[in-house]
Amino acid sequence: MNEVHIHSCANGDGEANGGGGGTQPMVVREDAMAEPLAKEEPMLEQEPMLGADEEAEEDYRVPVSVEVCLRGSSHVDGAQVAAALARFLEGRTIWYRNGPLDLSECEDPLLLQHVESVAVADTDPHQHRLNSPLLFWQYSPRIFVYQLSDEAPADDDEGEEGVPSYRELLLPAADLAGQWEALQFDSSIQQRLLSYATSALLFADRGVDANLVVVLLYGPPGTGKTSLCKALAHKLSIRLADRYRQGCLVEVNAHSLFSKYFSESGKLVSRLFSKITELVEEPDSLVFVLIDEVESLTSARKAAVSGSEPSDAIRAVNALLTQLDALRRHPNVMVLTTSNITQAIDVAFVDRADIKAGRSSSSGGR
Ligand SMILES: Nc1ncnc2c1ncn2[C@@H]1O[C@H](COP(=O)(O)OP(=O)(O)O)[C@@H](O)[C@H]1O
Ligand SMILES: [Mg+2]
Repeated sequence: MNEVHIHSCANGDGEANGGGGGTQPMVVREDAMAEPLAKEEPMLEQEPMLGADEEAEEDYRVPVSVEVCLRGSSHVDGAQVAAALARFLEGRTIWYRNGPLDLSECEDPLLLQHVESVAVADTDPHQHRLNSPLLFWQYSPRIFVYQLSDEAPADDDEGEEGVPSYRELLLPAADLAGQWEALQFDSSIQQRLLSYATSALLFADRGVDANLVVVLLYGPPGTGKTSLCKALAHKLSIRLADRYRQGCLVEVNAHSLFSKYFSESGKLVSRLFSKITELVEEPDSLVFVLIDEVESLTSARKAAVSGSEPSDAIRAVNALLTQLDALRRHPNVMVLTTSNITQAIDVAFVDRADIKAGRSSSSGGR
């Protein structure tokens, strides 16, 4: 098991961010999951063979992720836009740093008509060329073309007392734009999550390992867990836009699913999963299921085991776990979960998580 200690450096603008919780040490662990990327592998790409007298530095190009946001009104083939941008970048120097790319010299009518903005994203903080110019032969652009959805989230209104039991949001969503970039952690947790999750989804798509990926983020309130899950879903839907026509985030309200009216819970769980199944059976959709504050679900099961809650609770949680297992055969779904407390997480649930990141449980719970 690999453990990397990191520190969250929340910038304090969050509502639940008081008390310095954001400076607690956190731990990233990758277990249970095949490691798609070698840990020390530099983010470099081999070029075809060059003459022996070429400089060693010329043997590779720095891969640069370039994200192209199309205008809302555009109906254009993303591949054409990517090709046009690649032509525009040919022979150009760019700065290796996150931020907008200057298109003012662009004369390509396709780009002028359809592109809202272009940005360099997710530069590698360990790359020594960070914040330096890259000449055209020193980088290879990886272009991702996407369009934001500004559709409002759709609620399932069958939850207890009008509280929706889940909410569905099309991705990439205008509401989540910039959230990934706004989050700050003083480790490479974002980069690592993104590369593991991207590889896992691509491996699943190619049939290497179709198992559904469960990501579990844990730590004190206000450390950015919920924001990071949503931003990750948004980001992955941009990164995989050429494979999956649309993304969808299903936000499960665990509190309302496992309300005190447990007899309703079983019904809500089956409604939820018939919705999710409907979504994942569309092979062109990438579906993220976010179960926030999963401890409310698992503590329900514990309470049931100890006999203080009706056995409906245990049936409902078991139904949820069984349904999660049943989703496994679909390569186009990823489950994201968060927990504010680490000790209370159901072992049955933790066992299902492939990527776990959060505050070390040895540093104490809430
Ligand atoms: N590491 C961080 N970087 C930037 N903003 C953060 C960070 N952690 C928390 N925040 C901000 O604090 C607020 C609460 O974060 P949230 O994701 O709800 O935390 P959690 O789910 O861990 O309780 C959000 O507005 C978020 O943007
Ligand atoms: Mg949260």
